[in-house]
Amino acid sequence: MNFLGKMFGGSRSQAVAGLDIGSATLKVAQVRATGSGTELVTLGGLPTPPEAMKNGAVIDATALGMAVAELLEAARLGPGTRLVASVAGSQVIIRPIVMNQVADRELAGAIRFEAERYLAYPVSQAQVYGIKLRDIDHKSMETLLVAAPNEIINSAKEVIKVAQCTPEAIDLEPLVLRRSLKLCAPDKLQYRVALVNLGAAQSSINIFREGVLCHNRTIPMGGHSLTQAIGNNLNLPFEEAEKLKKLKGEVLLDTTPVAPAVKSIYNAIQPVLERLLTDLRRSLDYYHATYKGESVDLLILCGGTAQLKKLDAYLKKELQIPCVIADPFVNMTMPKNSNLTRASLRELAPSAMTVIGLALR
Ligand SMILES: Nc1ncnc2c1ncn2[C@@H]1O[C@H](COP(=O)(O)OP(=O)(O)OP(=O)(O)O)[C@@H](O)[C@H]1O
Ligand SMILES: [Mg+2]
Repeated sequence: MNFLGKMFGGSRSQAVAGLDIGSATLKVAQVRATGSGTELVTLGGLPTPPEAMKNGAVIDATALGMAVAELLEAARLGPGTRLVASVAGSQVIIRPIVMNQVADRELAGAIRFEAERYLAYPVSQAQVYGIKLRDIDHKSMETLLVAAPNEIINSAKEVIKVAQCTPEAIDLEPLVLRRSLKLCAPDKLQYRVALVNLGAAQSSINIFREGVLCHNRTIPMGGHSLTQAIGNNLNLPFEEAEKLKKLKGEVLLDTTPVAPAVKSIYNAIQPVLERLLTDLRRSLDYYHATYKGESVDLLILCGGTAQLKKLDAYLKKELQIPCVIADPFVNMTMPKNSNLTRASLRELAPSAMTVIGLALR
């Protein structure tokens, strides 16, 4: 099913909704708490205007804001909606650090001082906060350092304002993904889980250890890199290569004969997949070295590129770790008498992890 242009459900204004400003697709979602769980109220998506984003960063807030306004109108939300969005990328820092013990009321100041060592941008131009994780001994404690530059947060707010909506909150994508993971796979969070978000312009690996985010890395590749490789190898314009990727793209796991088109697409994307593997291995090795020989128990894939055929089986085989594809809707109910059904959402599920996490806030 095509997500684009297709809207579900909808309720009017002053509502809070999640907005995922993606490089390929702008997505909006609304959920509500029921007595027994969470119900999906609205879900919609629209292609991101071309050239409005580059490498995951906002380039043209006006074009994006106008597209968001259109998306909200079609989703029957409209102006005035309070939107929760997120930022992602290598400048978003979330990592456990060891620091001297400080009282809770002093943590906000102390963490800014500590952050200087870990950030590639000035602390004075960033949002920085700390979450105490545990006491190590009477002198030191482990704290989650959370930081993002003001510039990217302000760009997300600007998009929302152009759409005549209110920025309710700007969150950090790894923390947003944790929320949807908690909803759709609460039993998995007790293990060591790597959630791999494979988007269009960029990807990320987020390792949760007993529910705490302990490592995250941005990987500078995504579905666009696969499409570009197909376009270059087969001499096709981007749009055609994109269609071909979705239709016939597949990771070949063995030497079983396949149609020539499938084989040539695979030959084109293979070097990109190898780069992805190298980046994932780097994070898994880092985790292994940092946590005294512990290994990750499970890979969970999300993002639209998780839908590339047999990518899950390929990663399982190469990394020797069980691998599943995320479904943020699995523990949600769907409203009665609506076109929101589990079957209609199956194909969208992996790419909706971020927007559902945002709506859950
Ligand atoms: N069936 C499919 N097979 C392969 N790739 C697919 C398939 N369906 C979607 N994709 C890819 O998924 C990507 C879009 O995923 P997603 O919506 O998660 O990205 P985004 O959030 O818009 O981008 P980003 O997170 O990089 O800013 C596109 O590159 C698209 O080609
Ligand atoms: Mg994304």
